[in-house]
Amino acid sequence: MRAVYPGSFDPVTFGHLDIIGRAARLADELIIGVLKNNAKSPLFSLEERVRMLEEVTKDYHNVKVEAFEGLLVDFARKRDIDMIVRGLRAVTDFESELQMAQTNHKLEERVETVFLTTRLEYSYLSSTIVREVAAFGGDISQFVPDIVGQRIQEKMDERRRV
Ligand code: PNS
Repeated sequence: MRAVYPGSFDPVTFGHLDIIGRAARLADELIIGVLKNNAKSPLFSLEERVRMLEEVTKDYHNVKVEAFEGLLVDFARKRDIDMIVRGLRAVTDFESELQMAQTNHKLEERVETVFLTTRLEYSYLSSTIVREVAAFGGDISQFVPDIVGQRIQEKMDERRRV
């Protein structure tokens, strides 16, 4: 079975990596679908987000990183994907995730959404929190892999210079 774990990944966190590791055991092949979202102005470009994900998942033989644009179900159809994986951190995630899963199911019956509950130690964690802590000079080493931490630091230094 081929699955997709979609998201913005701006940037990838230990919470995402926890879900990736567990989803990679459930699926034969796991595609990390990185949304090219022009509406939001991301901290990292699509290429940077894809590259970081490739680096931090390089040890998984059945995980691939791909960018996608438009509807997730269209990407799923094109790539013969049967399952969408999403992480649930807390009850606050539930409403929007339910809505998204039901919409996706309406649009494409063949594709099922499966939720994995985030490990308790990462239940507070989000890319938004990471960006915020980093912007104010806080220590993000508990939230993201080292290479991601370095890239964020470079980004912040770049921004301070302009
Ligand atoms: O990391 P995020 O921002 O929580 O991920 C959201 C994502 C990428 C899964 C979602 O926005 C998405 O699938 N966008 C593509 C457009 C689409 O198919 N929307 C679902 C119909 S409601």
